[in-house]
Amino acid sequence: MMDPVRNPFAPGAGQRPPELAGREKEVAAFDVVLERVARGRPERSLVLTGLRGVGKTVLLGELRSKAVRRGWGAGKIEARPDADLRRPLSAALHRAVRDLAVRHRAPDRVEQVLAVLKAFALKANPDNAKLRDRWQPGIDVPAAQGRADSGDIEIDLVELFTDVAELAQDVGTGVAILIDEMQDIEPDDVSALCAACHELSQLGAPLVVVGAGLPHLPAVLSASKSYSERLFRYVRIDRLDRENADHAVLAPIDREEAGITPDALEALFVASGGYPYFIQAYGKAAWDAAPDDPITAEDVAVAAPEANAELAVGFFGSRYERATPAEREYLRAMAELTEGRDEGAATSDIAVFLGRKPSSLSPARDSLIKKGLVYSGERGRIAFTVPHFGKFLLDRED
Ligand SMILES: Nc1ncnc2c1ncn2[C@@H]1O[C@H](COP(=O)(O)OP(=O)(O)OP(=O)(O)O)[C@@H](O)[C@H]1O
Ligand SMILES: [Mg+2]
Repeated sequence: MMDPVRNPFAPGAGQRPPELAGREKEVAAFDVVLERVARGRPERSLVLTGLRGVGKTVLLGELRSKAVRRGWGAGKIEARPDADLRRPLSAALHRAVRDLAVRHRAPDRVEQVLAVLKAFALKANPDNAKLRDRWQPGIDVPAAQGRADSGDIEIDLVELFTDVAELAQDVGTGVAILIDEMQDIEPDDVSALCAACHELSQLGAPLVVVGAGLPHLPAVLSASKSYSERLFRYVRIDRLDRENADHAVLAPIDREEAGITPDALEALFVASGGYPYFIQAYGKAAWDAAPDDPITAEDVAVAAPEANAELAVGFFGSRYERATPAEREYLRAMAELTEGRDEGAATSDIAVFLGRKPSSLSPARDSLIKKGLVYSGERGRIAFTVPHFGKFLLDRED
């Protein structure tokens, strides 16, 4: 038996993989961004886009560690639909300021920035006075007055970012704000965020916003500000090719001083399609199913139903559960039309398939987009954000 305690694989949203395979280019590109921005040179920041489970969150976390190791202040947020940006953003900046404070020689300067940060935070939820009064940002200084507290998010962001960036400049580094699920930021907040980044980059201030989100994120950003393409470099995070997928499996198994046959590696790649989440899921199940070292192709075959059952609950099911009956009908139509392949469908074909008027289907489609289950990469077409989702729906019996 392979020791289940030593199983290195890590399926799960945001779970750090035992080996971050195939992302060297992106990490190196980020290094260049950090270096240039710290020197006040103009540089576009990165925005990572890709389907569910390709490793955006994990890569964003890696970039955050990179920044921190270089002495930057860094903070991370996960955007949510219909939520105010102020609170999570102030928490992330608080984190970044604390990173910087360790190296800063003038505690009163740090306190000044914290006071501005607190003023910014206290403006959260102005329409809900009750909620605002109860919520405390957890910053131990009195709020400043007259800076970052106008209530106009764009003005406030510019002032706050400028102050935090100056603090970083004092210690010769910068500030990185990492935003996951960036497509979920409210339109007004996206627009203010882009404007603030634009302004800061023109000032040569060392602050970068690094985003991650679904494939339609670039469209969301450019709909908000036409110059967003000059602010961000979009990097598509995709499934791993055969070589990197093999490395993702082999390196951790090696480290445990165990083995896997070439046939088993091949079988794992066929099952996973190179999608990082699936690599972890099938790798984990294969390890646990193997009676002996090395893991064989037969072990992979025996493990597949187990892995599929786990994926059906943890990866697909949790998302399917969030859909209403009307939305499920829409998803099924997409799956039927594409015969379970991961390609998009024309919205007009979906309407024909369901025998409905296209306009009557818009609410279901729009709420599926909002829930992050589908996206529209080009006008009139719609696709699953979750790889293999069509196949999952077709295999389900109900
Ligand atoms: N480069 C990689 N090599 C190997 N495994 C990886 C890699 N990147 C991510 N993984 C694994 O894939 C899974 C999904 O990663 P992650 O949650 O970062 O994806 P995501 O793109 O953020 O997905 P979602 O859109 O659902 O948030 C995790 O189990 C993680 O360990
Ligand atoms: Mg994620």
